[in-house]
Amino acid sequence: MNLLASLFQSSIGKKLLMAFTGLVLFGFVTGHLVGNLQIFLPPEKINAYGLLLESLGGALWLIRLFLLACVVIHIWIAIQLTIENRAARPTGYGVDHTSRATLASRVMARTGIVVLAFLVFHLAHFTIRIGHPEWSEHSYRLASGTAVRDVYTMVVQGFSNVGVSIFYIIAVGLLSYHLSHGIVSMVQSLGLKNERWTRGLEGFAVIYCWGYFLLNAAIPLAILGWLPVLSGLIHR
Ligand code: HEM
Repeated sequence: MNLLASLFQSSIGKKLLMAFTGLVLFGFVTGHLVGNLQIFLPPEKINAYGLLLESLGGALWLIRLFLLACVVIHIWIAIQLTIENRAARPTGYGVDHTSRATLASRVMARTGIVVLAFLVFHLAHFTIRIGHPEWSEHSYRLASGTAVRDVYTMVVQGFSNVGVSIFYIIAVGLLSYHLSHGIVSMVQSLGLKNERWTRGLEGFAVIYCWGYFLLNAAIPLAILGWLPVLSGLIHR
């Protein structure tokens, strides 16, 4: 059996793949949040950032393909592990009083499904721009004189819809909850968790996930005008 096959077939290999793809996706969502927070700066910043990403050309497509592969592998292995776990528990579902598993760990599949649904909606909304062909036409002139696609106006108009914003907030809430168990589990699967810093790691996961949720939620809330100070930073 070659290395790749044993990675996908052995139980340790599956856990490693789950952890590695989780780490990549964790890195992506963190970097994406940092980029999105530029919505609180003048429109020039996020629009210039959009141009910078687009200027990566072929490399950007390679990164997108790699991310897509990570999403597919993460979901594929999660389904396999769920089936294997159910098969190993002949009594079926019920309340397991002996288990110390947290609620977050027990609902990983369910939070994951909602995050996936959110991702499909998000790509249809902002990347394919279904129902909003005008977002592909809006252009913004940078201080350098270059005309770029106006990502700033797209995000502000997109989140001016209350229903869309509420869906985003619920989805990032569930993604944060998913990450709160995912971070600890990922470190454990990579063999980096030990007794001495388990508490520190769990504390970090909780703080990170609350920070991740609040900063993400601040974007639609500020655009809707529901956050006194931050709403004042949005240019309409
Ligand atoms: C308030 C939160 C968010 C905002 C404001 C936001 C905004 C955006 C914008 C402006 C784009 C670029 C669309 C384009 O011009 O092509 C985008 C793409 C994307 N977003 Fe988000 N996003 C948010 C949350 C998330 C979350 C939580 C995830 C992951 C679950 C995510 C995953 C993606 C992906 C995968 C892309 C496609 C990237 C690409 O085409 O290269 N986003 N988002």
